[in-house]
Amino acid sequence: MAASPPADRFEPMLTREDCLALDAADPLAAKRDEFAMPEGVIYLDGNSLGIPPKAALARLKQCAEEEWAQGLIRSWNDAGWIDLPQTLGAKLARLMGVDADEVLAVDAVTLNLFKLAGALLGRNPGGIAAEQGEFPTDNHVMEGLSRFTGSAMHRVAPGTRPKDLPDGVTVFIKSGVHYRSAEISDFEGYEREAAERGLAIVWDLSHATGLVDLKLKAWGAKYAVGCGYKFLSGGPGAPAFLYCHRDEIGSLEHPIPGWLGHKRPFGFEDAYEPAASIVRWRTSTPPILGLAALDGAVSVYDDVDMADVEAKARKLGDVFIARTQSLGLDIACAGMGERRGGHVVIAHDDGYAIVQALIARGIIGDFREPNIMRFGFNPLYNGYAEVFDAAQALAEVIETRAWDTPEFTQRKAVT
Ligand SMILES: Cc1ncc(COP(=O)(O)O)c(C=O)c1O
Repeated sequence: MAASPPADRFEPMLTREDCLALDAADPLAAKRDEFAMPEGVIYLDGNSLGIPPKAALARLKQCAEEEWAQGLIRSWNDAGWIDLPQTLGAKLARLMGVDADEVLAVDAVTLNLFKLAGALLGRNPGGIAAEQGEFPTDNHVMEGLSRFTGSAMHRVAPGTRPKDLPDGVTVFIKSGVHYRSAEISDFEGYEREAAERGLAIVWDLSHATGLVDLKLKAWGAKYAVGCGYKFLSGGPGAPAFLYCHRDEIGSLEHPIPGWLGHKRPFGFEDAYEPAASIVRWRTSTPPILGLAALDGAVSVYDDVDMADVEAKARKLGDVFIARTQSLGLDIACAGMGERRGGHVVIAHDDGYAIVQALIARGIIGDFREPNIMRFGFNPLYNGYAEVFDAAQALAEVIETRAWDTPEFTQRKAVT
């Protein structure tokens, strides 16, 4: 993993002209044209729902209008629908630093966590551990699995390393990039300690894939899940994915076996015989429209060096922090020049209303209870000058208390 840049890499008083110069020198700048950029908006929420790549929309249209409407049932064969979870998985594998036959685009993150952790507990019974403050679904589903299997569930303190986990833990769920702190985990160090303890880590890469220069194989990681709708820009509710190291597939039993994970799904046999390959992790009929959109979306990475993407994400966050730090805000994530994923988090008691006031100005970030403002930066389409402008607007909204009206303080259903 790349070392952290020095903390003084960006001048706190960076000007807009400096940012324009950074944009002009940016090797990823041309990528923005490959996205269907919305008019009049600075979009800083790609960490929740990415802007669609034009290729995703084109692929979706082709899939709906040609493959579905014209090809109909024939498209399972003729358009390669039946193999799409694997062929798309192979493309995602490159972004994760693993082999093409070790990733499947399938189901949702929560389900994939259940599948992998359930299979691992079946092979090596013991306790489950996840951090307090982990993305809630990770704890919810592990608690469900613990009730279901009778395994002990340990909610450990944030930052607990594998070597310090309670005795008896065999499965540890851990985010690759934390959804609040934006901390990029020490994948390699964790895997080394996990191997020494004989426990398995299932990485949740929801905030990492498409952003961090992942080298899972080299780091010793064997199991991971992640989602397609954040930095990968695969669309609302896009399918998730699952990585399982090739050498482990054969000894793991899928806890929700279904017909499409069968060795011969079209043999229609009563007895279940799991496929030997990554196909084993399938359960049900794949959602082809969603897979097609994600398939189109990931093509924007074909000519991209992930080291550039990770480095730019950190620089964009640095620009944002540098512009706002004179306000004395509570930066509740990795700070200037530190190893940080694709978002900056600011804790503020009036955070909800501030985010709404910014949205009314066309600057879209998000809010997380109880007091977290989150601003995400996708290096493929966000630029330095617009991030500077967004930080400037944030400063103005706070300094003028423009957020302090009922229009912005009343809560909506989805925050
Ligand atoms: C870290 C993390 N895990 C999981 C999820 C969601 O999982 P699912 O695909 O089951 O909705 C999210 C969604 O924001 C997330 O941030």
